[in-house]
Amino acid sequence: MQVCIIPGDGIGREVIDAALQVLQAVAGELPLETATAQAGWGTFQATGTALPDATLNLARSSDAVLFGAVASPSHAVPGYRSPIVALRRELNLYANIRPTRSIDGIGSTRSPAAPVDLVVVRENTEGLYAGRERLEDDGDTAIAERVVTRRGSERIVRHAFTLADQRRAAGTTGGKVTVVHKANVLRVTDGLFREVALAVAQDYPHIALEELLVDTAAMRLAQSPERFDIIVTTNMFGDILSDVACIHGGGLGLASSANIGDRQALFEPVHGAAPDIAGQGVANPLAAIGCIAMLLEWATRRQGDGGEIYAQAAQRVRAAAAETLQHGPYPPDLRGTATTGEVTAAVIARATSDM
Ligand code: NAI
Ligand code: MG
Repeated sequence: MQVCIIPGDGIGREVIDAALQVLQAVAGELPLETATAQAGWGTFQATGTALPDATLNLARSSDAVLFGAVASPSHAVPGYRSPIVALRRELNLYANIRPTRSIDGIGSTRSPAAPVDLVVVRENTEGLYAGRERLEDDGDTAIAERVVTRRGSERIVRHAFTLADQRRAAGTTGGKVTVVHKANVLRVTDGLFREVALAVAQDYPHIALEELLVDTAAMRLAQSPERFDIIVTTNMFGDILSDVACIHGGGLGLASSANIGDRQALFEPVHGAAPDIAGQGVANPLAAIGCIAMLLEWATRRQGDGGEIYAQAAQRVRAAAAETLQHGPYPPDLRGTATTGEVTAAVIARATSDM
């Protein structure tokens, strides 16, 4: 399996370095090759492009991509486009999977009534992030077009129900999908998304179906996260709701995500380049390390027969990260003083203790 590594900017470089150390430590005999490529603001400043062709070609020809984070300016810079948004679209990685699990003693200041174990399944290629923005000739009116297609809606909703099915079969949850939209206002775009979602749900009679308007969903997600299993929604709603959800799993420093297509997948921490702490060696590497576990689990499913070797490595990473969250050492975002390197070394020691 060929993995393209794109560290990016800021703490992206620091946490990907840590995650790669963990991958190398558990890889053993796994047939894994890695190759590193450049992208991001630093690359743009040096070369005039944020996503060089060489990087895009390497990503295209790899099985999977491990992505750190990139810094993007909030003002328009001529020629600059966000490399992660472009990569998701170019590789057709239509399903953004953002799981949140509560961990005893970590995370939300209030403990939820019951454990939280939910997944936000976010449409990743269309919606308001389809990139159709323009300024009218008068210079005073800016317009964004929101794209929702039947095909795009169908494949993301199917992905959500399949995941609900798998979790139900594994005994993780009872099996429920919450479809989040704003069809009372966005009657045409979210009307279509909703219609497709309700039709797909018919194929999964054993999975409970629920609909929520996005504002209500945000409130419930903050208030009673334990009531959710799978949340499926359009691109921007999913982006925002998954950041709310990750609070219940210990915050951005622990939130990992996958971007899945039919052939390839890209794994990335949810957090950004964190310029406020970059270069200090204190970034929490556990979100990026969680991406290694997700990558190995994806490789297990993709491999089918013979996939157990990946499953064992994934299990080592999961167990070592869980033990580190239970006993430390903790980085500053989890109210500790450990450096990125110290947390990483602890994970590696636990992951390899019986190898
Ligand atoms: P951010 O996620 O970089 O940081 C938000 C806050 O969380 C900061 O206080 C940061 O120090 C903290 N934080 C994030 N990850 C952490 C970690 N692993 N350990 C400890 N603390 C952590 O979001 P922000 O500040 O809104 O954006 C900064 C830059 O990152 C911007 O240029 C933005 O465009 C970019 N960004 C990139 C993303 C990506 O590459 N996928 C995603 C989000 C933002
Ligand atoms: Mg986000």
